[in-house]
Amino acid sequence: MRKKIVAGNWKCNTNLQEGTDLAAAVDKLVAEKGADDVVVILGVPFTHLTNVVKTVRTNRIGVSAQNCAAEPKGAYTGEVSAEMVKSTGAAYVILGHSERREYYHENSEVLNKKLALALKNDLTPIFCCGEPLEIREANAQNDYVKKQLEETVFQLSANDFKKIIIAYEPIWAIGTGKTASSEQAQEIHAFIRSAIVEKFGKDVAEEIPILYGGSCKPDNAKELFANQDVDGGLIGGASLKAEDFLGIINGF
Ligand code: 13P
Repeated sequence: MRKKIVAGNWKCNTNLQEGTDLAAAVDKLVAEKGADDVVVILGVPFTHLTNVVKTVRTNRIGVSAQNCAAEPKGAYTGEVSAEMVKSTGAAYVILGHSERREYYHENSEVLNKKLALALKNDLTPIFCCGEPLEIREANAQNDYVKKQLEETVFQLSANDFKKIIIAYEPIWAIGTGKTASSEQAQEIHAFIRSAIVEKFGKDVAEEIPILYGGSCKPDNAKELFANQDVDGGLIGGASLKAEDFLGIINGF
């Protein structure tokens, strides 16, 4: 039985007080009303990690960074290492988000360094993939996503690969209010799982959670999560409102 996971990605939103309050609100709602078989993850800015880790009391909520450095330590002004993230008590790190690939030019080579360091420091990578609009319009999304995976997480050993979470996030659906249809989501999630079967075998593929991300809201989560190969969501905008986030958590 694969884990059901709902992860919030707060991106570059909330100051420290707002973020701490939001984490406390999510923690309370999840404890009182959240489905108890769902793993909840809060992907917060680096500055908030320590506070959010201390604020969250519900043991089914984990805390995630949204990035980590590609180097272990040293003269890299402004960078935050995987070891530093781990030392806050965070357990996860989002890697390969399309915003980082696009705005910060993170390519597969950089992502592979980050993946290795995350794993070395016992952080669970939430590894993102997903195609831009023109690729979807050309119906070339499967090849595009497979290549993203082949250049990165498919380079890992089966043992390491088993530790990761994959998030499929079509770029055209991120922050646009335009969600992939339930059929589109199931189709590509099943394709990703079949690519994992090919690479690592059925047993590994059956274990790997594949999350959907892109304008996921309380009113469409149920339909998306009902699909056999959609194991939850990576949530941007709707993770910034505790009630909406709870609605998604209870969307299975
Ligand atoms: P939205 O839910 O705001 O579309 O963002 C999705 C996302 O990028 C999560 O990582």
